[in-house]
Amino acid sequence: MSKEIKRIAILTSGGDAPGMNAAIRAVVRTATHEDLHTYGIESGYKGMIEGNLTRLESKDVANTILRGGTILKTARCEEFKTPEGRQKAYESLLAFDIDAVIAIGGNGTYTGAYYFTREYDIPFIGLPGTIDNDIYGTDFTIGYDTAINTAVEAIDKIRDTASSHNRLFFVEVMGRSSGFIALETGIASGAAATFLPETNWGVDELMVLLKKAAIRKKLFNIVVVAEGNKSGTATELAKHVKDNFPEFDSRVATIGHLQRGGSPSAYDRVLASRLGYEAVIALQNGIYNKALGLVSGKVHFVDFLDAINKKKELDTEKIKMLDVLAM
Ligand code: F6P
Repeated sequence: MSKEIKRIAILTSGGDAPGMNAAIRAVVRTATHEDLHTYGIESGYKGMIEGNLTRLESKDVANTILRGGTILKTARCEEFKTPEGRQKAYESLLAFDIDAVIAIGGNGTYTGAYYFTREYDIPFIGLPGTIDNDIYGTDFTIGYDTAINTAVEAIDKIRDTASSHNRLFFVEVMGRSSGFIALETGIASGAAATFLPETNWGVDELMVLLKKAAIRKKLFNIVVVAEGNKSGTATELAKHVKDNFPEFDSRVATIGHLQRGGSPSAYDRVLASRLGYEAVIALQNGIYNKALGLVSGKVHFVDFLDAINKKKELDTEKIKMLDVLAM
């Protein structure tokens, strides 16, 4: 049964991602347009437990579409994983007369939303905000496009010094246990090899590749390694090469949290704006307790449980292509 929604609370949780502010802005502006009130919850579920809510008006989100990070701040909250924590959060929402919550984040955010909505009758809509792009039910997550552009830009710079010194660079990119960032970054940066958690590529394959490169006297190479790669971290792979193939002068660069910051790309701004807008419209139409995304450019809803448990797969054609283009 749908209820009348008058006050919406919004939060960002988990790792920040460029474009989160554009989504917050879209929610606030759409809600204002629909004569609804928006409340910003500071620091994700932690702020919900502590009752840290503030009214957000249209002017409060001016000049935010271009800003990285999140104006609402974010946190990973252990207490929300407990029934007692969620009870406190519920009481805070009641104190502010909140009718619905829009939660922007990744898997942990959706897990919190799932448990909360099983226990309490305040509807949630989840928006996918993570650089990792590892959320089922949406082709792209907010922040992913910016993160891969940042990684590619960084590798382009590494390439200059790598080629000048004829060095082999192992570049580690983020992505937790999935290889979306590494796959696109590997393709776009013209990497000689790309190590993904989803493939069986190991040191043996790397050795074969390097032998071929050595015969061609190609000592300068870029190898992209996903942080979740199972056959070794960038540092471990580099050590293996040093021990077994000393003619390669190896170095390691970890791009790290650089990938999380910066002004969102135009793609992320548009994606975040669309999702923020659609989240408010969905709540008005009585669509509750769903994760919202875009599939083939169209608005798509999935249950929180599916978004949490189903695995989004990498494009196998792109993985095949990586092998063809390597070295
Ligand atoms: O989920 C986003 C992400 O940046 C992952 O790619 C990475 O594994 C993790 O967060 C890092 O988390 P933290 O910022 O807590 O170190």
